[in-house]
Parts: sequence; C-alpha cells; structure tokens
Amino acid sequence: MIRPIIVANWKMNKNTQEAISFFKEFCTDPTVSSGQVSCIVCPATTLLHTAASYADTPNLSIGGQNLNEKEKGAFTGEISGTMLRDAGCKFVLVGHSERRHLYRESSDLVAKKAFAAAHANLIPIVCVGETLVDRQGNKTFQVIRTQLNALFNEAPFLASFIVAYEPVWAIGTGQVATPEQAQEVHAFIRQLLVERLGEKGRLISLLYGGSVTPENAKSLLTQPDIEGALVGGASLQAASFLQIIHEGARLC
Ligand code: 13P
Repeated sequence: MIRPIIVANWKMNKNTQEAISFFKEFCTDPTVSSGQVSCIVCPATTLLHTAASYADTPNLSIGGQNLNEKEKGAFTGEISGTMLRDAGCKFVLVGHSERRHLYRESSDLVAKKAFAAAHANLIPIVCVGETLVDRQGNKTFQVIRTQLNALFNEAPFLASFIVAYEPVWAIGTGQVATPEQAQEVHAFIRQLLVERLGEKGRLISLLYGGSVTPENAKSLLTQPDIEGALVGGASLQAASFLQIIHEGARLC
C-alpha cells in the first residue's frame, strides 16, 4: 500500500488551549514522525497559527477547512487561498458536505474553489458524497459523477488534488459505510478519474470519510482503492486520532 493520508477535520471545535494540548500529545508520538503515514490537521481558522507552529513535525501538515474562490477583495468574513498559505497551510478542504448542504455550495463553486486553492499553491481535498435519499434511490454513482464532472473542467489546471468520498449519511452519525460499500464507490471514482484524466487519474489519492474510528479504520484502509481517511469526531482527541494513524502505519 502507498503511504496512507490521514486527515483530521476539526470543524467548528476547539480553543487555543485545547489545540495546544492536542499537538503536544500528537507530535511526540513516534509514529507521526516515522514517515509511514502522511498526517494533515484542518483546524478552525482561529487555530491556524497555533497549528502551524507544530508543522515542523515531520509528516504533519496543516490544512484549511474552506476558502473563498476569489484571491482578495470586499468579501467580509471570508478567507482566501493565499491567506491560508500565508498562515502555514499546505492543503484545504473544498466541497465538504456541510458546505454543500448547509451553505448551498454548488459543484461549480466547489470546482472554482479547487482552482483557487491550486492557484494559491495549496492542494485541494475535494469532498464528494451522496445523501441517504440518493443512496436509497440508487443514485449514488450519478451524484458522484455530477459532483466530479464540474471539477474535471478545472482539473487540467490542478497540479495535484485529493478526492475524499464522504457519504453524507455516514457523517457524524456513527453509521459508517461498510468497507465493501466504500470500496465500490472508490473504485467508481478511480474509474472516472482515469477516464477523464488518463494515467494521471491513477495518481490521485482517494480518502474515505464518515464515522471513521480506531475500531473500523483497519477494515476501511485495507480496501484496494481506499488510500486514507478524513476523520471528524474521532480526530478531536489526540489519543483516538493517533490510534487511526497507527492503523494506517501498520499497513505500510
Ligand atoms: P465524522 O468522522 O465525525 O463522521 O465526520 C466526518 C467528516 O465530515 C470529516 O470531514
């Protein structure tokens, strides 16, 4: 297996003291600096500088959770890719289902954000996933295809990007996709990437997200097309996030 990428998405959680406690515990774990796993932590914007002060830990990178598609200007409350880069980020999540559903972000906007990220020298982690209604209506592949199609128009301009499959029904619900369900969609995404991007499509890392825990990480990460995890709730405590990192490291 290639080096797994394990990403923490803290969402709107943690103050500075809590972030410092996390990093103090996390960064002293020998597995983190061993190089077996690529670790990325995406904290809230207010914590980026604190997080970036730990980014000299080998194999730890910092990511933003969202960015505006514009480079600068009168967009109160927004943050640009260059600002994230300036704050020490190397990655940024785009199109997380909470952004798509709660803030009505369209696939076209998500694609613009991915382009803006690349323009700012950030690697976008593009999230896709179907709702429970989509899945029950056998529309999973159709939804994923539509979400990715918009991105393919921008793809020639992206030096590098990552795709995270996060079924909406599995996010924060404790209802994880079975390894077989996740693998089926990952194989479909891989096929789409190769169809649209040729050989480059094989080099795009595919992550699974949605109720990943230390208990289920191994069964997900051993699937052939699952190359890492995007972790919400279980990334908030260093101990449980480290357990997931350890599972990833054991597979190398
Ligand atoms: P949970 O791991 O809490 O289900 O969250 C997943 C997620 O949305 C990560 O981006």
